[in-house]
Amino acid sequence: MDRVRVSTVDELMELLSDCEDVWDMPDRSGDPVDILDHDRQCAELLRERFPDDEQLQVAGLVHDIGHMLVPGDDAGHGRHGADAVRDLLGDRVARLVELHVTAKRYLAATDSVHTAALSESSRRTLIAQGGPMTTTEIAEFEADPDFHAALALRKADDAGKVIDLRVSALPAWRPVIERVAAAR
Ligand SMILES: [Fe+2]
Repeated sequence: MDRVRVSTVDELMELLSDCEDVWDMPDRSGDPVDILDHDRQCAELLRERFPDDEQLQVAGLVHDIGHMLVPGDDAGHGRHGADAVRDLLGDRVARLVELHVTAKRYLAATDSVHTAALSESSRRTLIAQGGPMTTTEIAEFEADPDFHAALALRKADDAGKVIDLRVSALPAWRPVIERVAAAR
């Protein structure tokens, strides 16, 4: 299912709800929560830390739909997700979705404590995603206007893998998605 473009909030809600029982690794060798759980945990963490940045929260909510759109393409999942939501949610949200993979490469190069705490699956996929950033890439990323937001999304991403954690149900996010889509 390549080149999916989500054009309405209804379509996005349906796509997200279809992420129940979809896993980052189709053979279940990856994270211990499904994509819908994981994306909701990630969005919730971002809402707690950045209550005024709804674009960032929504980026967290959709950041891993690329796994669902193109199963098994871990290295490309950020881009697939970004391409799918750009028309509906705007360039910044799409960019933050894509950057969650970039930010992982940044942290792998700059934060040994964070890297040591990565889930086993996350560590395995790092190499396919390009491995730790080079010095030049680090400088470029740090100069990006969305550097801090992208890093926050990545940290929420790494933390949002708790089995049976209770977070807001998907429909509670609909008004937030609608606001972000309306303001794009
Ligand atoms: Fe994720």
